[in-house]
Amino acid sequence: MTTDTTTPEAGPAPTTGTPLLHASGVTMRFGGLTAVRSVDLTVNTGEIVGLIGPNGAGKTTFFNCLTGLYVPTEGTVSYRGKVLPPKPHLVTQAGIARTFQNIRLFANMTVLENVLVGRHTRTKEGLFSALLRGPGFKRAETASRDRAMELLAFIGLESKAEHLARNLPYGDQRKLEIARALASDPGLLLLDEPTAGMNPQETRTTEELVFAIRDMGIAVLVIEHDMRFIFNLCDRVSVLVQGEKLVEGTSEVVQRDDRVIAAYLGEPFEGAPGDEELAEVEAAETATGSTTSTTGTEGER
Ligand SMILES: Nc1ncnc2c1ncn2[C@@H]1O[C@H](COP(=O)(O)OP(=O)(O)O)[C@@H](O)[C@H]1O
Ligand SMILES: [Mg+2]
Repeated sequence: MTTDTTTPEAGPAPTTGTPLLHASGVTMRFGGLTAVRSVDLTVNTGEIVGLIGPNGAGKTTFFNCLTGLYVPTEGTVSYRGKVLPPKPHLVTQAGIARTFQNIRLFANMTVLENVLVGRHTRTKEGLFSALLRGPGFKRAETASRDRAMELLAFIGLESKAEHLARNLPYGDQRKLEIARALASDPGLLLLDEPTAGMNPQETRTTEELVFAIRDMGIAVLVIEHDMRFIFNLCDRVSVLVQGEKLVEGTSEVVQRDDRVIAAYLGEPFEGAPGDEELAEVEAAETATGSTTSTTGTEGER
């Protein structure tokens, strides 16, 4: 197979990894708005790291800075010790793949073809070879198809390889995005809200899928609003609020952090104030005439 040297090694993930991705002082300004402010983040080999925060906190913008879609106003992003040029195709070639918050599939291509598109950064056959359709091209094409089918089997969409992407149920489209990202043989996978719009059963399957990806030797950085998903899955969680990193730590530490509970009340999660405590706060506020809302005000902070 015509793969690059970044192909992840199989086998169980190491418990303590070495730095794979390192973002240093990343700032992104849009005119007067600072969407991401001086954020440092490291992802080590073998890790699943979560990135959480209210809507508008700058999570997707930060992903866009990591993957070269945006050129950060300040700061650098390194992968395996080398500073990445802010060009998406070079970032993919270096070994970082991603999925998008809003699904970006080729709707009128088949499931298999969508995965093959993700594969092209790893095939060395150029346009000339493709036009001539010589033996080298045929071999590369067969190898790519085999690998794409393997990935479809891995995510459970093998039987739908010839379906048009647009005919897939929503949850399957999200999975297909993951397969397409994996087709570039990444060492690090960035997932932007992979379970958005999924039912609980699909969310569980995705959780298992992310663990399986990590066990293949691919580190994962994942943005998600589903707190149960994040805290089950992640070795470490980083919390962004208004573009700044508020807290970072293990799931156990982060879900008990008062600042996180105060800043991030989008969804109740273990460690967050229970209904009784909220009722007490409400009662106290009614008594003092305060008008502060105690309901989840995600995105307004
Ligand atoms: N291309 C852009 N131009 C101007 N503002 C943007 C752009 N992309 C994001 N923003 C703004 O940056 C902030 C962070 O957005 P985003 O990164 O999408 O947040 P999140 O993913 O955490 O919900 C928001 O205020 C958003 O409106
Ligand atoms: Mg987002």
